[in-house]
Amino acid sequence: MFDRPSGGQRAVLVIVRWPDKPDLSEFEMLAESADIEVVGHLCVYNKKTNPKFGISTGKVELLKQSVIDNCAELVLFDEALTPSQAKNLEYELNCLVLDRTALILDIFAKRAITFEGQLQVELAQLQYLSTRLIRGWTHLERQKGGIGLRGPGETQLETDKRLIRARIESIKLKLSKVRKTRAQNRNRRDDQYLSVICLVGYTNAGKSTLFNKLTAAHTYIADQLFATLDPLTRQWDIPGYGPVLLIDTVGFIQNLPHDLVDAFKATLEETLEADLLLHVVSAADEERLEKIMHTEDVLNDIGAENIPQIIVYNKVDLTKEPVRKIPANPDMPPRLWLSATTGQGVNLLEEQLIEQLNEVRLNIKVELPLSAMRLRARLFDMDAVLSEDGSSESGCRLHLSIVKSQWTRLCNEEGLCPDSILIS
Ligand code: GTP
Repeated sequence: MFDRPSGGQRAVLVIVRWPDKPDLSEFEMLAESADIEVVGHLCVYNKKTNPKFGISTGKVELLKQSVIDNCAELVLFDEALTPSQAKNLEYELNCLVLDRTALILDIFAKRAITFEGQLQVELAQLQYLSTRLIRGWTHLERQKGGIGLRGPGETQLETDKRLIRARIESIKLKLSKVRKTRAQNRNRRDDQYLSVICLVGYTNAGKSTLFNKLTAAHTYIADQLFATLDPLTRQWDIPGYGPVLLIDTVGFIQNLPHDLVDAFKATLEETLEADLLLHVVSAADEERLEKIMHTEDVLNDIGAENIPQIIVYNKVDLTKEPVRKIPANPDMPPRLWLSATTGQGVNLLEEQLIEQLNEVRLNIKVELPLSAMRLRARLFDMDAVLSEDGSSESGCRLHLSIVKSQWTRLCNEEGLCPDSILIS
């Protein structure tokens, strides 16, 4: 029996790769996304592994030396480790050892914003943990809470398993409640009635750089709203259009462990609220086409396939491509090439956005029944009413200019069918 080392932010990375594919950078980036300071690397190219550790005994010695030399508190493996391999390594290295799945879960935990997203990620974390509870590790000891929690005759391992099972059940219950009420609960963003634009795409495509570039110059720094928004959502004043909300999302990751797919999708829930998606791709990435197709598949899976999109080829400064814009065709959404770093082409993006935001804005006349006067008040509150064409005993007629998705959302909330109240 030994206590698990507590870990820290200074990490040595272990990359198990064949010589032709030493893709160190992606794993390093993943580690940095989790605010980890990479202090050393160890590449393992051969397959002469000792099953006890998942790498050869010689490499374990090298790793031990690297941990000591770099004062590392953590060793991260870019591979799945079995629970006993992780335990044996921790024992040898006297340092916390995490594998790729644990690291990705940590990143998701930081990025999940909504309550549902957080629950989903915690569920994935617990499910991962439940498969890793093995004899000899006392890692839940501190959370046990002491007298009263342990059942009669239970070993530590059984207590841990029981605690995790109970927590998993309680999270599943909460998740089902949250899902039921989500449709009725108005998100705080709805109150602001601004169009929502969401950045999606692979990790390292440059979403955050673009997010900062776009919002830095045109953010209402002093605006009250801004202070209440979460760090990955900012209000952005598009010159010539007005304020919108821009959301940055967690980047897609290659070779995502299968059991993390649901947790990953949960972090993308924000996407479903969007009026428009900016699908960011690195123009300098040789695998950009595969990545675009994969992103499309995930968007289909989460039900975001009908949200209008712009494909943004970023990092044009690293390629020979000119800055340009190609309009939509039947097979492709509009595409444009820009550089978030230099700012070239950002004006094209602003133009394209204005064009598309105007398309998703409805100009309609509706007749509201008397029972829908709260909706009338809300429409006035959000400045969506262009004119009111008198009111009668049966209700009132309004001329509206409103973003399509907001209109559908409002009608759903008020229990009205949008088509049944439409005049023209
Ligand atoms: P995740 O947060 O992991 O999803 O990544 P991301 O898509 O937000 O990428 P991020 O903005 O963190 O950029 C990744 C790297 O690409 C950083 O080193 C940026 O400096 C670089 N980068 C982003 N945009 C550009 C660009 O237009 N040109 C060049 N040369 N580099 C860029």
